[in-house]
Amino acid sequence: MAHQKIRKAVFPAAGMGTRFLPATKSIPKEMLCLVDKPLIQYGVEEAVAAGCTEIIIVTGRDKAAMEDHFDSSPELEAALAARGKLSLLDAVRSLSKLAKIVYTRQAEPLGLGHAILMAKELVGDEPFCVLLPDDIVDARVPCMKQMVEVFDQTQSSILASEAVEGPAISNYGCLDCTPDARNPRLLAVKGMVEKPRFEDAPSANAIIGRYILTPRIFQMIEGVKPGAGGELQLTDAIKALLEFEKVYGFHYEGKRHDAGDKLGFLKATVELALKREDLGPGFREWLKQFPL
Ligand code: UTP
Repeated sequence: MAHQKIRKAVFPAAGMGTRFLPATKSIPKEMLCLVDKPLIQYGVEEAVAAGCTEIIIVTGRDKAAMEDHFDSSPELEAALAARGKLSLLDAVRSLSKLAKIVYTRQAEPLGLGHAILMAKELVGDEPFCVLLPDDIVDARVPCMKQMVEVFDQTQSSILASEAVEGPAISNYGCLDCTPDARNPRLLAVKGMVEKPRFEDAPSANAIIGRYILTPRIFQMIEGVKPGAGGELQLTDAIKALLEFEKVYGFHYEGKRHDAGDKLGFLKATVELALKREDLGPGFREWLKQFPL
């Protein structure tokens, strides 16, 4: 088979965001802002840095805020130009030029697998990446770029993984895997379990919200039986994929924040703000008043 390249990125953004209510009653979780950028923008920038030229956002209700965010805004741009606010003008303009962004809809939140299935026609018959916008990965080399480099060598599905010690593994999909001899960061996946009990977890390798998937995954999702609440689990589809193709876990280099959770969101805000050249020093100074 010809060497394939990753050009398209799918962003499931149609969940209900119940962990972040009441904020998410009228604002999509993906539009919540870390310092000065909505979560989805961090992910889209990461996908573009990884070489993606087409972004597919799967939305539910309230997609207007996301569409407006990535669209051009002539009035705002004219106002910023008239006031000489050129760096802000640049930031706003570059947003609408990031990539080709298309939207598709998931009428009901029937699970991550179902959300990805909504992108089937737009993706077509090529490998693609999936980024869950509430997982923010702070990394020297963007996480998806690291993964695309591995895909270029393996041409197989890749699941970003993080070692989670102790009972917290029960919050994640967990890999049953063996280390790959070629690359210490790579794991050959034999199986996986969604949210296992700590005692039953096959390893400490959790799956996080970054995937590269081959197009056969769509067929696999279509064959999955709905679980609780009629949801189609992506984990079940990847398990089915294992019968046909190799799948790898990948220990990326970087730090992940679960910004879909209130405490995780606060931690991400503090860490990202402290790293900012413009805000970090003042914020650090201000934080000193709190006896920690
Ligand atoms: P989450 O489980 O983190 O999101 O799904 P959620 O369901 O919105 O959040 P809580 O648990 O109720 O707070 C991970 C990603 O998958 C998307 C979500 O929007 C989120 O970006 N998703 C999830 C869908 O697009 N459709 C679904 O049916 C489920």
